[in-house]
Amino acid sequence: MKGIVLAGGSGTRLSPLTIAVSKQLLPVYDKPMIYYPISVLMLAGIREILIITTPEDSHLFKRLLGDGSVLGCSFSYEVQEQPNGLAEAFIIGESFIGKDKVALVLGDNIFYGNGLSKLLQSKVTVDGGAIFAYPVRDPERFGVVAFDKDMNVTSIEEKPESPQSNYAVPGIYFYDNDVVAIAKEIKPSHRGELEITAINQEYLLRKKLTVGVMSRGMSWFDTGTVDALDDATEFIRVLQRNQSTMIACLEEIAYKMNWISYEALKASASRYGKGAYAQYINTL
Ligand code: TTP
Repeated sequence: MKGIVLAGGSGTRLSPLTIAVSKQLLPVYDKPMIYYPISVLMLAGIREILIITTPEDSHLFKRLLGDGSVLGCSFSYEVQEQPNGLAEAFIIGESFIGKDKVALVLGDNIFYGNGLSKLLQSKVTVDGGAIFAYPVRDPERFGVVAFDKDMNVTSIEEKPESPQSNYAVPGIYFYDNDVVAIAKEIKPSHRGELEITAINQEYLLRKKLTVGVMSRGMSWFDTGTVDALDDATEFIRVLQRNQSTMIACLEEIAYKMNWISYEALKASASRYGKGAYAQYINTL
């Protein structure tokens, strides 16, 4: 399975923070936001990753992340000219995806919790589509999935005015190779975007969509607003301090996945100077 991080968008809700800098380069406590979604793909065991950015920000992401080889991964880059919607990722990424399955993670989504790696790894052999449901207070801001009493999916709607449930669909999606053809078929929504919800509705119609409810032990943040960004920063800060482990240290994940050697891990710390991130790598 290949992976895509969608890190374009306009970030208008974070303005003026995002006038000169991409949202996904802003700090979430001690690292750039994009480290978190990349860590999620890596934890799923995905090493071939496409990073989609705006044309203006592409060079900054390349400077930050390079070709991924220091992590035993391969990072490539494409641009999205306009924020035409999440589903456009599969059209932009068509040649990258080739004949493989693909996972998409949104560049401003953070996941953390017990059993996350196992949960993600269980989806990389997906036949059809696999998405998640997560209970939230404000479902009208998200794609919303509703279930019957036997937990069969009854509907998926994008930002509904009257949500049928309080289950939002978080920004991590797993699909088989059909997703490319489906993305090319769907039409822009009334807000002019190619919606990921339209892709999920098509898989649902084909009876090939599985929706797993994320347990309350799992934390999910969509960091698109100032308060949510601040909450995420606070969450990472408190957890890291209490547990003395780091969330989304990419070098640690690469080492534990056996993608880089002990020597390569040690060498990777030098890139980070004398800061806490480098010190953490040195303690591993
Ligand atoms: P959103 O938060 O829905 O949109 P946005 O980032 O443009 O922000 P705002 O609503 O404040 O203007 O996007 C979710 C994620 O997907 C985010 O990481 C940006 C990314 N994205 C794209 O890369 N391309 C797109 O066309 C869209 C809509 C989002």
